[in-house]
Amino acid sequence: ADWISVKEARQAESVATDREVRGWVRTRRDSKGGFSFIELNDGSSLGNLQVIAPAELANYENEIQKLTAGCSVIVRGELKESPAKGQATELHADEIRVLGWADSETYPLQKKRHSFEKLREWAHLRTRTNTLGAVMRVRDQISQSIHGFFRENRFLYVHTPIITASDCEGAGEMFRVTTLDLDRLAASGGPVNYSHDFFDKPTYLTVSGQLEGETYATSLGRIYTFGPTFRAENSNTSRHLAEFWMVEPEAAFFDLADNMDLAERFLKYVFSETLNHCQEDMEFFDKMIEKGKLEQVKAVIEKPFEHMTYTDAIKILESCNEKFEYEIQWGSDLQAEHERYLTEKHVGGPLILTDYPSSIKPFYMRLSDDEKTVAAMDVLVPGVGEIIGGSQREERLEVLQKRMAAQSLPEEDYWWYVDLRRYGTVPHAGFGLGLERAVQYITGMNNIRDVIPFPRTPGHAEF
Ligand code: 4AD
Ligand code: MG
Repeated sequence: ADWISVKEARQAESVATDREVRGWVRTRRDSKGGFSFIELNDGSSLGNLQVIAPAELANYENEIQKLTAGCSVIVRGELKESPAKGQATELHADEIRVLGWADSETYPLQKKRHSFEKLREWAHLRTRTNTLGAVMRVRDQISQSIHGFFRENRFLYVHTPIITASDCEGAGEMFRVTTLDLDRLAASGGPVNYSHDFFDKPTYLTVSGQLEGETYATSLGRIYTFGPTFRAENSNTSRHLAEFWMVEPEAAFFDLADNMDLAERFLKYVFSETLNHCQEDMEFFDKMIEKGKLEQVKAVIEKPFEHMTYTDAIKILESCNEKFEYEIQWGSDLQAEHERYLTEKHVGGPLILTDYPSSIKPFYMRLSDDEKTVAAMDVLVPGVGEIIGGSQREERLEVLQKRMAAQSLPEEDYWWYVDLRRYGTVPHAGFGLGLERAVQYITGMNNIRDVIPFPRTPGHAEF
């Protein structure tokens, strides 16, 4: 096919006769001089291509003048340097073919600005707006950079299963997978017999690929997973989804310090690649969504991350003057408000918190010599709070067995995981980055529902 994208067409080097562009009309207006201005977008860039349609076009009156937002067209003509400000080029149409009409009475994306909340009702069309288009281009760039970073650092990309029998995080927030007609079973009042189900045992959608990832790290060395994960967490917040994408590196012979260093280098790489490749979109977010974002992200890339232990963080939170909704004391989990206080008011940038109490962390984290804390690390950032959660793993067989027993995890369900400590155990560590939280942070978008194409939250699975 020999058409060019709007992005290419907007570059001065593309100037030529007989150029073709294909896309959707954003706006059209008549001009006094007897022609129409059409703003055309095809998703390749934030900026539109200005098309000038002369009245001489054969379909000028019966089609061109009836074009409204959302119509799809193919335009062929001469791409010239533009005298107008804010654009290098404009396309002088010799021919415009209308492919699809969009009834202006019913098309939702009229000129008027809609709230992001309203736009969620049109998740199938909202990517045709400036903001959602920019978000999805940035999301793509972040995803590509994630692969780029791990490839450069010799991590193998492995695919862990979506359907699993184990609850990695031990939080009981799993979605059940079954072919059994649970309604009918409930009505019959009888016990659920899994031998009649597909897998003969209860299975769930994975909450994390970590446990399976560990088996690969302890044979291939350095690996990462990157895929959808699911949490039946009934929390209606602006940073939780029931389905989200997680990146999970896992590396043999890494300790907590190596893990923290990896996380910091990883975030800096991904952020800096995104600034380099999504300049136009990032400038848009800086101007329209969160003022000062660009400077903030640049500072994050340049400055070393702060480190602090959980115990020190509790001391700060207990002695500060901030009024929190949830009380905090040693042993309690940090809430978003606490995480945000620490990063936004105390540190003024990213913060790596380490050495959490073992009682609030999963069984697989390595127990420290004090026997009260584990070798855990969370990376917190302003505006979002926790973006990364990770740890050094418990590699000592007896210690792991004790912790599993204490949390009533049946060893026979995790026999393969325990085997890794039985046969050639090594220190190892890893972490998980929530992709959407990273997109949220870098774009400044307030609600996590607006940085994933089709958000799943309690009560919402429309699309
Ligand atoms: O802290 P989490 O629960 O850690 C794990 O799942 C580990 N198994 C990761 C590992 O060590 N391999 O989740 C990791 C990250 C969080 O920091 C957060 O960014 C994101 O995943 N996350 C969510 N994002 C959106 N919606 C939710 N409900 C999320 N839960 C966690
Ligand atoms: Mg966590």
